[in-house]
Amino acid sequence: MSSDDTLQTSVPTDTETGTGIGAIAPFDAIVSPEAETIADVRGEWWRTAVIYQVYPRSFADSDGDGIGDLRGITSRLDSLADLGVDAVWLSPFMTSPQKDAGYDVSDYCGVDPLFGTLDDFDALRARATQLGLRVIVDLVPNHSSSAHPWFQAALAAGPGSTERGHYTFRDGLGENGELPPNNWESIFGGAAWSRITEVDGTPGQWYLHLFDSSQPDFDWSDPWVREQFLDILRFWLDRGVDGFRVDVAHGLIKADGLPDYTPPAEAGSMGGGLADDLTPPYWGQDGVHEIYRTWREVLDEYDGDRIMVAEAWVEPLSKLANWVRPDEMHQAFNFSYLESGWTATSIRRVIDSSLEVFDSVGAPSTWVLSNHDVVRHASRLALTTENPQGTGIGPKTEGLPDRDLGLARARAATAIMLALPGSVYLYQGEELGLPEAIDLPDDSRQDPTWFRTNGERYGRDGCRVPLPWESASPAFGFNTTGEAWLPQPDDWAPYARDAQVGRVGSTLELYKLALAARDEFDLGSGEIEWLTGYGPSVVAFRNGEITVIANTGDVPVELPIADELLSSVELDGPALPPNATVWLRV
Ligand code: NOJ
Repeated sequence: MSSDDTLQTSVPTDTETGTGIGAIAPFDAIVSPEAETIADVRGEWWRTAVIYQVYPRSFADSDGDGIGDLRGITSRLDSLADLGVDAVWLSPFMTSPQKDAGYDVSDYCGVDPLFGTLDDFDALRARATQLGLRVIVDLVPNHSSSAHPWFQAALAAGPGSTERGHYTFRDGLGENGELPPNNWESIFGGAAWSRITEVDGTPGQWYLHLFDSSQPDFDWSDPWVREQFLDILRFWLDRGVDGFRVDVAHGLIKADGLPDYTPPAEAGSMGGGLADDLTPPYWGQDGVHEIYRTWREVLDEYDGDRIMVAEAWVEPLSKLANWVRPDEMHQAFNFSYLESGWTATSIRRVIDSSLEVFDSVGAPSTWVLSNHDVVRHASRLALTTENPQGTGIGPKTEGLPDRDLGLARARAATAIMLALPGSVYLYQGEELGLPEAIDLPDDSRQDPTWFRTNGERYGRDGCRVPLPWESASPAFGFNTTGEAWLPQPDDWAPYARDAQVGRVGSTLELYKLALAARDEFDLGSGEIEWLTGYGPSVVAFRNGEITVIANTGDVPVELPIADELLSSVELDGPALPPNATVWLRV
């Protein structure tokens, strides 16, 4: 244990330490009583929506300080309407010391000055409404910032106090409490516990932080905590948000007694990749469900079809169904899909199980390939070694991707995803084909993972680099000053939006074409029928009028004679090359 784990009763910082699924009722039996018919339920916007994740730090920077902001987002929202998405999800912009890029909130109802003001948020939402875009905000209920007044009050109030009960404090083990209460490790590396110094100067209790030491975990068995979050939900619902993305939705409840647990080496840091029979004592505990049921009741008090989507790294998919039963969340991110390898067998398998599992509880499947926590799929799909989520890639990573191959696979994978029924999540920059920024200088890195593992894991900075908008402007048009909180690679000019708009075959135009066709042919509310006869390396299916053929193998595949609607590569004959997807009208 390093001495850094002994904290004062002041704000700790991030650099201190360097159910099984129950029986599922058939869909007919569980549609909400208000819905007259299944068609009514199917009409809900979120069942087919394409939702675009905006990472506020890196989207667009109006004041030139190098960090994106709400006004910047508002000024560029028309490009998202033009892209053809239905909604935006904003990663956190609430008041925060930014130890984990805003996922360390110190005021859940305030806007961090870095990003603007509540008025700026209202203006953003109003502009979004004009453009026909819905707005979802990020809610971080597993932990607050250690700078939150509630945590500061807990530090000041002492052991056994009501205030301490809001968080997960425990006495240490060992003769003098000098050992942490259990062996849990932080998702970002290092111990998941830090010891405080009590106000009288004596070594004190320990508090749990599944993430950075600046992110103390609440104790959700405390009714007071539950009440606060109902108020927070109402605050944003009253402000007109269309819903919430719920951070670490699988982590709020910890197993009684906080038993020791060591995750298998191959598990991703957030819990993906676990064997079926494993339920870690801090992920996916049954008690989370009653929390989300009370939240659902609050959302249902509001008009306008407000939604919740769970960030729950729960595997296998059959367990995730419990999160999206009709009285809980509306959606859950499908991380099993994101984690599928580039093989036809695994893609087909995960599509099948997703549709089956989500359908069994009347929820739409979601589909996602990238977000702010994973290696961008334009790089990830061409990695040649295992890279569990949270590890990240950097100059010393083995098996680094070939950039052209990665982009080809990413375009092909996206063209599969956008033809699937259900709801799709896109991560900013994927429509530009952005790769992971691999060569970030060590001293520019900011992810707590990098610090807490002493550089052993690169973490997530590489997918968070500010977006390129204009190929010939300072900071590629991210702002006008050329500042960027993470340096943009010099060779990003060809990825800039203005270099792709209107250019036939650009990744941006491919996304636009696919999104327009998805809409025109109602693919989001369709059904898929597998097609056979193309060989084991091909993913082929029909959704309504559209036939999708994707070649994950290494030899060309003969195509049927039909009108081509779109293709992830330029075809020069009736054959589909490897790492490509085509949509045909058959
Ligand atoms: C999941 C978020 O997506 C990630 O960015 C964050 O670091 C952790 N939750 C902790 O809030």
